[in-house]
Amino acid sequence: MRFRTKAIHAGQAPDPQHGAVMTPVYQTSTFAFRSAEDPGEFDYSRSGNPTRKALEECLAQLESGQRAFAFSTGMAAETTVMMQYRAGDHVVVSNECYGGTYRLMTTVMQPLGIEVSFEDFNDLDAVRAAMRPNTKVVWIESPTNPLMKVVDIAALAAIAHEGGAHAIVDNTFLSPYFQNPLDLGADIVVHSTTKYLNGHSDVVGGCAITNDEAIAARLAHLQNAVGAVPGPWECFLVMRGIKTLPLRMEAHQANALALAEFLEAHPKIERVLHPGLPSHPQHELAKRQARGNGGTFSFYVKGGKPEAYALLDNLELFSQAVSLGGVESLIEYPWTMTHLAVPEDERRKMGIAANLVRVSIGIEDPADLLEDFDRALQAVKG
Ligand SMILES: Cc1ncc(COP(=O)(O)O)c(C=O)c1O
Repeated sequence: MRFRTKAIHAGQAPDPQHGAVMTPVYQTSTFAFRSAEDPGEFDYSRSGNPTRKALEECLAQLESGQRAFAFSTGMAAETTVMMQYRAGDHVVVSNECYGGTYRLMTTVMQPLGIEVSFEDFNDLDAVRAAMRPNTKVVWIESPTNPLMKVVDIAALAAIAHEGGAHAIVDNTFLSPYFQNPLDLGADIVVHSTTKYLNGHSDVVGGCAITNDEAIAARLAHLQNAVGAVPGPWECFLVMRGIKTLPLRMEAHQANALALAEFLEAHPKIERVLHPGLPSHPQHELAKRQARGNGGTFSFYVKGGKPEAYALLDNLELFSQAVSLGGVESLIEYPWTMTHLAVPEDERRKMGIAANLVRVSIGIEDPADLLEDFDRALQAVKG
């Protein structure tokens, strides 16, 4: 099956009892045993649920994986994946990882005795040098948020494997439609399904996918033991969202690229960070390892906070909100919104300046999005 067919059919055969074409929402906490010693396939919804199983089979196939595990949020997926490791183990993490991953590593994993180092993942020598005998994980994100740097997943996975560590990739930004890290050598892929996979800004969810039987066995155990699972209704909604993932991703990508090109040529914009633009420093790498660029990108407005605020406040179609990957366009200001928790001098060092703005471009008519920006930029002092 090809991707678009899998998005609709993988894991989802008509219900054998009544023939329902859409997977039913098995809204039940428990399942009747056939007899005291014969529970059937499902016994309790933390351990397994038919709606969740259908979603997990679909996610596994979309990511070229053998097994997928669904979780209540992206962070629940990340936390459960990290529960495989022990005090004394070491993790090398991209220094531009999602803020929630940074918080998980520094305020939850480090106090549990897991050693964490943050490195620039565009500097492969630095990552190689950061590997220690006890390194168990290289935690990768590409592109990064909000600076949209693209890192070489295959090269980083090779470094991880040389050191006997797992390569884990957060593939939330591109979705499996545009990038499949397992095919590039990763051992585990995680997603916030809250974003493109669900795509309608009405669910929080997460997942982890692997090709490795030993990892799958551990994650199956941890999913049940830790218990951070999604309910069947959320699984149904994510599955419904996935059916249009290919169509949405194409529309997100086309709209985002059109706006990125418009902004790059605009006199009130200093610089656009979009891997699909030839001006992007990793444009060639992005073309090599992914099939597209998604709908999220960032740019610097000429000036500072007042100019950025003038733009944010004058847009009509863009809600000011964190998150990304929904059908509607959003705009956010990393300086005070997503990246406020990063100390101010760290933010400046990273390039998260007071004139940086991130957009998640929806699937509206692109002409309306461009007109909205054109009009709002007129309110920005030149
Ligand atoms: C790249 C990335 N990974 C993980 C997460 C966490 O996902 P959730 O908010 O579903 O817990 C997010 C959320 O913004 C994200 O952007």
